[in-house]
Amino acid sequence: MSTTPSAHPLLDVLSARPTRSPEARVSKRPAGPRRRRRASGELIAAAHRAIDGDFHQYSITWGTPRLRRAIADKYSKWYGMQVDPERNVTVCCGSTETMLSTLLAVLNPGDEVIIFEPFYENYGPGCIISGAEPVFVPLEPPDFVFDPDRLARAVSPRTRAIVFNSPNNPTGKVFSRAELETIAALCVEHDLLAITDEIYEHIVYDGLGHTPIATLPGMAAHDFVTVGAPHPLQEAAVPALGLPDSYYARLRAQYQARRDLLYGYVEAAGFVAWKPRGAYYILTDVTHFLKRYGVENDTAFAMWLIENVGVATVPGSSFYAHPELGRTKIRFCFPKTDDVLRDAGERLLKLRS
Ligand SMILES: Cc1ncc(COP(=O)(O)O)c(C=O)c1O
Repeated sequence: MSTTPSAHPLLDVLSARPTRSPEARVSKRPAGPRRRRRASGELIAAAHRAIDGDFHQYSITWGTPRLRRAIADKYSKWYGMQVDPERNVTVCCGSTETMLSTLLAVLNPGDEVIIFEPFYENYGPGCIISGAEPVFVPLEPPDFVFDPDRLARAVSPRTRAIVFNSPNNPTGKVFSRAELETIAALCVEHDLLAITDEIYEHIVYDGLGHTPIATLPGMAAHDFVTVGAPHPLQEAAVPALGLPDSYYARLRAQYQARRDLLYGYVEAAGFVAWKPRGAYYILTDVTHFLKRYGVENDTAFAMWLIENVGVATVPGSSFYAHPELGRTKIRFCFPKTDDVLRDAGERLLKLRS
């Protein structure tokens, strides 16, 4: 943990953060095998086959041809997009690296970048490391919509890009087609890049679909670092991308059931909770709990919940550039087994007044 103040308050957030969030510390406690969720058996088997295979030299830096082809085919099948695997696809080591690499590639010192707030906490520091200045536009509860006029007013001659994440961490918001059109229109009018993190594209609930903004007119896709993602694991990702639609339908249904299970408990326990439409997080307001239990803020309440209830959450202020906006909020996360969620839910019910 750094003790020297950094050049920007958002970087202080990173350097001052505990190396692991309270949630991570608790979820890393050893749990019996029955309580852990396993990745799909098919994917684990594909990874074993690839590691046993002949893929131990570096692959092409920007991704194995087979994986880039599988990614292009996926975008064609799911979204009707024509993606050239040779020109439009680069494989990175995960979404966080992809976002940072993209920001470093396209931003110059003095640029401004619009980011919707609250946001997955790496985007702000990513802009600053790139020398750009983040400009925040709020997503307001309960539906976390943005004010189109406010977004338009945030654009200046220095704006280079709009960064967003849909389905969204931490709110569970899924940007509507109309909202994507508003963002796309501004990008086309002012020649801005839309940089999106769509890691939760298949986790959308209530019959909603996911629309990549790249499918809107004028918004052609460019996916943009490392000597190369691990070669055998890239090979193992090829069959993953070819999984049938039924795999994704089952994935969505399972996550929606988990959402409903935890959301029911969170509401019954008395949290002011915003129902997520995608991703696997539930953002809540806890102003009344802070008063009732005499706890100062979100971070103190997250620790209080661990010590007194046995449930770990993430303090809301980690998702805001203006930490005061998150001081009465905490975020739950539900990619867990049903019995873990029920156990957590029953514990939370003790908070009922
Ligand atoms: C929006 C979002 N992007 C990226 C990540 C991390 O993805 P990766 O492990 O692929 O870097 C997370 C994890 O919480 C996330 O919520």
